Amino acid sequence: MTGPQMGRGGGRAFPSKMPKLDKKTFGRLMALIWSEHKVRLVVVVVSILASSLASVAGSVFLRILIDSYITPMAAQGGAASFKALIEALMKMALIYACGVIATYTYNRLMVTVSQRTLKSIRDTMFAHMQSLPIKYFDTREHGDLMSLYTNDTDTLRQMVTQSIPNFISSIVTVIAIFIAMVVTSWHLTLVVLLSLTSMLFITRGIARKSGQHFMAQQKAIGAANGYIEELVNAQKVVQTFTYEERAIERFAGLNDELFENAFNANRYANILMPIMGNISYIQYVVVAIVGGTLALSGLAPLTLGAIASFLQLSRTINMPINQMAQQLNAVAMALAGTRRIFDLLDAESEADSGHITLTHATRAEDGSLLPTCDSSTCVWAWHDEQKGTLTPLSGHVRLIDVDFGYSDEKLVLKDVSIDAQPGKKIALVGPTGAGKTTITNLINRFYDLADGKIRYDGININRIKKGELRRSLGVVLQDVHLFSDTVMENIRYGRLDATDDEVIEAAKMANADFFISHLPQGYQTELAASGNSLSQGQRQLISIARAIVANPPVLVLDEATSSIDTYTEAVVQQGMDALMAGRTVFVIAHRLSTIRNADTIMVLDDGTVIEAGTHEQLMERQGQYWRLYTGVFELE
Ligand SMILES: Nc1ncnc2c1ncn2[C@@H]1O[C@H](COP(=O)(O)OP(=O)(O)OP(=O)(O)O)[C@@H](O)[C@H]1O
Ligand SMILES: [Mg+2]
Repeated sequence: MTGPQMGRGGGRAFPSKMPKLDKKTFGRLMALIWSEHKVRLVVVVVSILASSLASVAGSVFLRILIDSYITPMAAQGGAASFKALIEALMKMALIYACGVIATYTYNRLMVTVSQRTLKSIRDTMFAHMQSLPIKYFDTREHGDLMSLYTNDTDTLRQMVTQSIPNFISSIVTVIAIFIAMVVTSWHLTLVVLLSLTSMLFITRGIARKSGQHFMAQQKAIGAANGYIEELVNAQKVVQTFTYEERAIERFAGLNDELFENAFNANRYANILMPIMGNISYIQYVVVAIVGGTLALSGLAPLTLGAIASFLQLSRTINMPINQMAQQLNAVAMALAGTRRIFDLLDAESEADSGHITLTHATRAEDGSLLPTCDSSTCVWAWHDEQKGTLTPLSGHVRLIDVDFGYSDEKLVLKDVSIDAQPGKKIALVGPTGAGKTTITNLINRFYDLADGKIRYDGININRIKKGELRRSLGVVLQDVHLFSDTVMENIRYGRLDATDDEVIEAAKMANADFFISHLPQGYQTELAASGNSLSQGQRQLISIARAIVANPPVLVLDEATSSIDTYTEAVVQQGMDALMAGRTVFVIAHRLSTIRNADTIMVLDDGTVIEAGTHEQLMERQGQYWRLYTGVFELE
C-alpha cells in the first residue's frame, strides 16, 4: 500500500472541507460498470474484504502469538517445543499470504474493469460526437472537447482502479481495526480516539489555510497552459509582429503566479506529514505508557500480547483514516469529469426525421420511373419510403421566404427567396457577413430554419434523410480542411468508393494534377499537419477535386477559387464549366469576374436579397452590383 499522497494532484489530495459527491453521476457510472462486469465486481468486493481483514488479523494474531506461545516459552526458560510456535507462525503466514493474493486479485481485476470501461466510453463518446449537430461544436472550445478524452477519462480511470477500491478497503479496515481495538482494550481505545481527534483538528486547520492556495494553483496551471497552447498555434503571427518579448514577459507573469500559489499550497501540505508523523509517535508512546501502567497497576486485565497487538493496531489505523478523506476527495473530483463525459453522451444527436432516400432508378419508355436499375441507364431518384413513390432528382432547389438566425436574438437571414432551376448557375454576392455562407449551411441542413421553406425537387428538405441530402450536394467549404492522410485519400473523401483513376480524373479536371505530380510522392504524398505544407490555392484545388469526385447533381462552391491565381482559375473554370453542365450550382465569390456568366446573380446585403438578375440586367440597373463591379463607392 502506498503512503498518504499529500500534495499530489493539487487540491485533490488535500480537502479543505468534505467534498460533495455527485451521487447521480456515481450511480450511473456504477450501473454502467455493473452491467458489463457483474462477476468481476463481486470477486473484487470479496477480495477487498479478505485483503482488509487479513491485514487486521495479523495484528490480532500477534496477541495470541505472544500470550499463548512466546510468554509461556519465556517462562519455561525456552525449553518448550518450538513446534506449536512454528505452527502458529505458519498460520499467520497463511493469513498474510491470503491477504496478498486477495490484494493482487482485486487490483488486477480493477485494471481489466477500468480499461474495458474506458475503451467502451471512448468508443461511445466518439461515435456520439459524430452524430452531434454543427451547432454543438459552434458553442464549445475544442480544448474542452479534447480534455474529455484526455484529463477526464484519466481521472475516471484513476477513480475506478484506485480511489474507489482504496476507499472501500479503508472503510472496512478502519471498522475492523476499531472493533479489534475495543475488544482488546476500551481504555486504550479512548487514548487513540483522543489523538485521532487532535489530528483531525490539525488537518482541518492546515487544510483551510492551503485549500485556497490549491484552488489558486489549479487556476494558475490552467492559465499558464492555456497561454502556451495559444502561442504554439500562433507562432507565425508572433514572429511576424515580433511579439516574442511581450510573450515571454506575459508568460513570466503567469509563471510567477503559478509559482507563488504552488509554493504556498505545498508548503502547508508538506509540513502536515511530519506533524502527523510526530503525533502518531507520541500516540504510540502514550499508548505504551498507559497500557503498561494499566497492566502493572492491575486496573485493567491487559496482557503483554494485548498491549503489543494494540500498539500495532493503533499504528495501522492512521493510514486508512487519512486515505478515506483523500480518496473521497479524489472521487468527487473525478466525478466532475465523469459528469462532463455523460453530458456529452446526453447531448442530443442531430434530429433526423427524414424518410426519403436517394436511389438508382431506370426511366421507362413512357417516362415513368422504375425502382430497378441496370448500370447503363441509371438515373438518380428520391425514394419516399413511406409512400413508395419515386421522384426524379433534377436538382431544383428553392428557398421560400427563409428567416434564420444562429441565435434566437438576431436574424442573420431575412425573407430570403431563391429559385435555383435545374442545371442553372446561381451566384451569391455581397459584402462580408452578408449571409452567403449561411445560405449554404441551410441547404446542407447544418441548421434548421426559423421560418420559411426549402424545397428540393419539390420535396421539403426536412423529409429527406440528412445523409442522403448531403450526398446529393457537392460542397466546397469556405475554409478548406485537409486530413493527415495521402493526397489520394484526401480527394477520395468526396466519395469513398471512387477508384484511383476516378480520383486522378477529378484532380485533372480541377487542374490539381499538375502540382500533385510534382509533390515528392505524387498522389501518395502524406499531408502532415492537415496539409500545412501546401499553399492556400493548392488546398483549394484539392477541395474542388474532392467535390468533383463526389459527382453530385447540385454543387455549392463557397469562395472555392479565392486563393487561386487568375490564370489557374481560368483553367479550373473551364474544367468546372464542363462539370457544371447539367448541374445546379451555387457559387459564392468575391471576385465578380468569376460569376459573370451565372444565370442569376443574387446580391445580398445584411441578410436580405437586394437585387437579382443576370450580369447584364444588374449592370443596367446601376445598383449595388454595378457599384461592386465597377468599384464605384460613395465613401463617406
Ligand atoms: N456559427 C455561427 N454562429 C453565430 N453567428 C454566425 C456563425 N456563422 C456566421 N455567423 C454570423 O452570421 C452572419 C453571416 O455570416 P456568413 O458566414 O453567412 O457571411 P458571408 O456572407 O459568408 O461572409 P464572407 O463573405 O466573409 O464569407 C455574420 O454576421 C456572422 O457573424
Ligand atoms: Mg462566407
